[in-house]
Amino acid sequence: MQAISMESLQKDFTELKAKYGDDRSALLPILQDLQEKYRYLSDLILQETAHTLGLHPVEVEGVASFYSFFKTKEQQGKYVIRLCQTISCDLEGKANVARQLENELGIKFGETTKDHMFTLEYTNCLGMCDQGPAMMINDRLFAKVTPAKVSKIIADCRNEYIKSDFPKVVPSDVKKSGPILEHGVIAGEGLKKALEMKRPDIIYHIRQSGLKGRGGAGFPTSIKWQLAAAAKDEQKYVVCNADEGEPGTFKDRYLLFNHTDMLLDGMTIAAYVLGATKGFIYLRGEYLYMKKFLEEKLQERKQMGLLGDNILGKEGFNFHLQLRMGAGAYVCGEETALIESLEGERGEPRNRPPFPVDTGFQGHPTAVNNVETFIDAALICAKGHEWFSEHGTEQSKGTKLFSISGHCDNPGIYELPYGITIREMLKEVGGEDAKAVQVGGASGQCIPAKDFDRAIAYEDASSGGSIIVFGPNTDMLKVAKNFMEFFTEESCGQCTPCRDGNPKLLEGIHKLEKGRCSYSYLKELINLGETMQIASKCGLGQSSANAFISIMTNFQSEVLGRVPEKE
Ligand code: FES
Repeated sequence: MQAISMESLQKDFTELKAKYGDDRSALLPILQDLQEKYRYLSDLILQETAHTLGLHPVEVEGVASFYSFFKTKEQQGKYVIRLCQTISCDLEGKANVARQLENELGIKFGETTKDHMFTLEYTNCLGMCDQGPAMMINDRLFAKVTPAKVSKIIADCRNEYIKSDFPKVVPSDVKKSGPILEHGVIAGEGLKKALEMKRPDIIYHIRQSGLKGRGGAGFPTSIKWQLAAAAKDEQKYVVCNADEGEPGTFKDRYLLFNHTDMLLDGMTIAAYVLGATKGFIYLRGEYLYMKKFLEEKLQERKQMGLLGDNILGKEGFNFHLQLRMGAGAYVCGEETALIESLEGERGEPRNRPPFPVDTGFQGHPTAVNNVETFIDAALICAKGHEWFSEHGTEQSKGTKLFSISGHCDNPGIYELPYGITIREMLKEVGGEDAKAVQVGGASGQCIPAKDFDRAIAYEDASSGGSIIVFGPNTDMLKVAKNFMEFFTEESCGQCTPCRDGNPKLLEGIHKLEKGRCSYSYLKELINLGETMQIASKCGLGQSSANAFISIMTNFQSEVLGRVPEKE
């Protein structure tokens, strides 16, 4: 670890300003680089960062304290071990791995060894849910960790083996592919076809395809692009939301590595439609191991004439893309929180309207789409809207990538048409004996076996891609507890219904566990959850009670079995 001195910091800031600029949007990358170098953000670092960017130290502290990956109190260990505590890893035996880690290191979670070699932390979903229990050491991922593997991994760290074993390989785990994953389109093909069209014609094709945002909300992509294109401003932005943090989602991890050119084609097409000259990929902090690969890809595309100035020889069509890292905040998956984060602020969602297509990054029109949406858009330009819309249902066109984990024989990534029933999906993955399926991650719905003929589609059971299977012996109260612990931790705390509601629901679960929750109290908790759905400011609070309500409603006899008696 480097010693922190004013002299070394001055040198750092000269380099960092040249790399990231000196406006507030440089704050997060600057803090990330400094933490990597000095292993924590000391008071001196925070003060000098504030001074460099012309901010008040309290503002910088406020940002540093918001993101779970920033450490301000004490030096982290040389190896920061982050064990996933989220549901799919929990189902696969996270508790045994946690115990072994504590025993090996002689510390508890949240602590650092005296020799400053190891810091042990829990983290939320690492995007390895099909290969849990998962953990991360610095920027390296470990899948299917067992107590026996823990001893070897710790020994490897002590012998510096982990450090020399870079780069990391993340195994691909596609179990079923379809037209999207088997597209056969080469880099720049969709972009080239788009540049031959007039801008309204591109929007026409996207509209005819029926493409809706693949993140789960399902807003039509053509309308988003059209609104941003119509906004009057000299400067516009295109942003890729690569912050898939929904528990149980890991498909973007695969797409970012294996379909990178289609993603970048999609973003560049959006830039052309909007008249945007700048853009960002906002990559979740948990995917740090992809940073180098993606940065090299951006450089390569520049050299190929697919990014930068006069793209594909089209005079005046300039688009410059930067990669920005998140820092461990689930709420930044919400597009306005993501924009706040890009601006160097705490990732707190904005009131809407105004919408980002009108007032986005630094007040300019901004189109934010997720990884899969950009890929689909590029392929629609390359292969035509009919190719896309021939799959799916009337209101949910196309095929969709699903991350399927939990109690099934073949967890992994599946490309399936919208409209598939849960029962059919379970047959695909070998999970026919499931008692419930969580559709849409922690913020989605828990669907019991009696409803397995429901379809996965925007108009029925909607999912941004996360599907978690619960086998016949799953303790559903334990599932609800894991989800509510997640939301209690991830609520940004801005609005009262979400900030206070999530801990209240968790408190109720603790009482249920002990058999001390009365029937009427349970009903009150469900009412509270419904209030949170209506009164919370953003999607996090509006959806955080979904799983609680569906579990308490659909598995009432199981849950009430722990209550001594009905009142
Ligand atoms: Fe653990 Fe996703 S990686 S639940």
